[in-house]
Amino acid sequence: MSSRTLEELQKQYNQKPQEKKRGAFGGRRHPPHEPRNTSKPKDMKKTIGRLLSYLAPYKFRLILVVVCILVSTVASLMGAYIMRPIINGLVGQKALSFFGFSFNSILHYLAAILVVVGIVYLVGVVSSYLQFRLMLSVTLKSIEKIRNELFQKLEKLPVRFFDGDSNGEIMSRFTNDVDNIDVMLHNTVISLFSGSILLLGTFGMMLVTNIWLTLVTVFFVPVFLKLGGFIAKKSGKYYIGQQAALGTMNGYIEETVSGQKVVKVFNHEETCLEEFSLLNQDLRQKQFKAQFYGGIMGPVLGNTSQISYALTAGLGGVLCLHGLCDIGALAVFVNYSRQFTRPIDMISQQMSTIFAALAGAERVFAIMDSEPETEEGQVFSEGLRMRGDVVLKDVTFGYDPEKVVLKGISLYAHPGQKIAFVGSTGAGKTTVTNVLNRFYEIDKGTITIDDIPIQE
Ligand SMILES: Nc1ncnc2c1ncn2[C@@H]1O[C@H](COP(=O)(O)OP(=O)(O)OP(=O)(O)O)[C@@H](O)[C@H]1O
Ligand SMILES: [Mg+2]
Repeated sequence: MSSRTLEELQKQYNQKPQEKKRGAFGGRRHPPHEPRNTSKPKDMKKTIGRLLSYLAPYKFRLILVVVCILVSTVASLMGAYIMRPIINGLVGQKALSFFGFSFNSILHYLAAILVVVGIVYLVGVVSSYLQFRLMLSVTLKSIEKIRNELFQKLEKLPVRFFDGDSNGEIMSRFTNDVDNIDVMLHNTVISLFSGSILLLGTFGMMLVTNIWLTLVTVFFVPVFLKLGGFIAKKSGKYYIGQQAALGTMNGYIEETVSGQKVVKVFNHEETCLEEFSLLNQDLRQKQFKAQFYGGIMGPVLGNTSQISYALTAGLGGVLCLHGLCDIGALAVFVNYSRQFTRPIDMISQQMSTIFAALAGAERVFAIMDSEPETEEGQVFSEGLRMRGDVVLKDVTFGYDPEKVVLKGISLYAHPGQKIAFVGSTGAGKTTVTNVLNRFYEIDKGTITIDDIPIQE
């Protein structure tokens, strides 16, 4: 047998769950690592709303979190702004002065500054700490609830459900997908929120400090957004490719390892090597692009912000010489212009995390919304002594509605009787035991044990 092409391998080892034929009982093994997080969320609004409903019971704490974020942002803006009176107090004509107080010794002056700066930063640190702690506890409680609900649902799902998805795929919802939601809730949401507030606050403070210098910084914002967006889009695209290639390779390895004896018996080693190196090479190429674009984001944006920084500083110097700006304001402004680009950079980087988490949340909710097993049983097993009188009457069943496996089968097993099923492979022996255990609902006919239908 000659080795397959890359496309054929990708098709086989990257199957969509619904293309897999057999599952729970005697089915083929599935690659444990399906490509994950490769899909875009379908209905973002609905998913976000549903995620928020998990946070809703913690309203009070969330309000505290918002307050803490506001306080820490204000403290951070203040901390930067305080440089202005400090510097101006030192270089100004008047003797050392700070917030209207004048000092006759530099030591007193420095001590006063230290106290004020210390208080501002302390407030910032305490509120950041509180915000982080509160948000972490709220998020983890919600995640605990999601995990519980998911597991409860899993116990109620019919066997048919597990035919569709590989075990690895279902497990990845508990681990990967839930983790992504966790990261998004306690990390991304907070940084997006505080980033936006910081952005607005910084902008306001910049306007207050100096309008002309603000214009320079604002001019660079679209440049920043364009560059950041471009790189984020590219890296997102290649990241998906990389994950898919990884999934394909994992599937191939899993099958080859578990089928080593078959490989040896059929002298398939050479072909395996060829096919594997094909997949390996494909993975390397995709990894290169994904990691390249992922890695250049920081440096590119960093260098762009250096240009805006240098321009601001240069122009600020000129304004200072002409008395249109004071030195303290320039120092503060240069600081702000650095700070201004950080949230933009951050937001464009967090977008992919958000998409991954929302797509994960959709997969988690999809399980929660699956139809559970029907339970219409009326007979209680307590006090019931089973004899084991098993009757199958005109049973018709197919896993697929189109493909009937059992056609009008009637069987009778006397209590205590041992019966052997004999037949060619695929005849339906396992299927009979499956329907007898009510792993699947039969389409026609009845199955009774001691005259009690198994549905009861
Ligand atoms: N989970 C499943 N989903 C869809 N089709 C299935 C599933 N399990 C079995 N089938 C199909 O049902 C038919 C009967 O399969 P079954 O496993 O009952 O055969 P069997 O007699 O037990 O065979 P073997 O001797 O190989 O164990 C086959 O055509 C098989 O492809
Ligand atoms: Mg079987």
